[in-house]
Amino acid sequence: MPSFTPDSHLDLLFAPELIPSDVQAQLGSDLHMRPLAKDDLYRSHLSVLRVLTSTPELTEEQYTQAFNRLKSCPNTYFTLVIINRATDQVVGVGSVFMEQKFTRGLGVVGHIEDIAVDKSVQGRKLGLRIIQALTTISERVGSYKTILNCSDANIPFYEKCGFQKKENEMARYH
Ligand code: ACO
Repeated sequence: MPSFTPDSHLDLLFAPELIPSDVQAQLGSDLHMRPLAKDDLYRSHLSVLRVLTSTPELTEEQYTQAFNRLKSCPNTYFTLVIINRATDQVVGVGSVFMEQKFTRGLGVVGHIEDIAVDKSVQGRKLGLRIIQALTTISERVGSYKTILNCSDANIPFYEKCGFQKKENEMARYH
């Protein structure tokens, strides 16, 4: 079984200090929240996303290129993961990306995307902790609001995370 890899040994997407310490403290001693790392392909990152939607395998090269693309945009992409310390594997994941607007005096909006918690640990408040961390990061990097789209089935979850239903989602698939 692989042993836990400390943050200092990893190439991380953003500064781990942005993750609120109170959220980290509430996770449980068996778990650790940190920014996505360049080699999380080998820690089941994509498998966890499959509880959410179709997530085909990627080669190491494809994964690394995608990671580098996100990292090359400072203060824009924040993907975090929850690691099971015993297995060094990802059990939860979520992202917020920052949109720079011309309205509201160059206002910034945080968009939460791709929240997924492995079935084995659902119901342990990890989804809530991920949303709390992403919302705090969004606020800390200057957004005036944080928004997301979800299914009707997930509305009660997001209400418990402090979100309110607003307007409608439109989509056109290509
Ligand atoms: N309906 C009603 N209540 C819910 C639901 C739900 N579908 N899911 C969670 N809750 C409640 C919990 O009971 C808990 O309530 P409590 O505080 O009264 O005990 C509270 O919400 C917090 O729940 P968590 O334990 O944090 O939820 P969990 O860790 O299981 O994560 C999540 C929730 C992320 C929805 C998880 O079930 C999951 O990964 N589902 C599949 C993928 C998915 O749907 N992701 C969200 C897509 S939307 C997006 O990405 C923007």
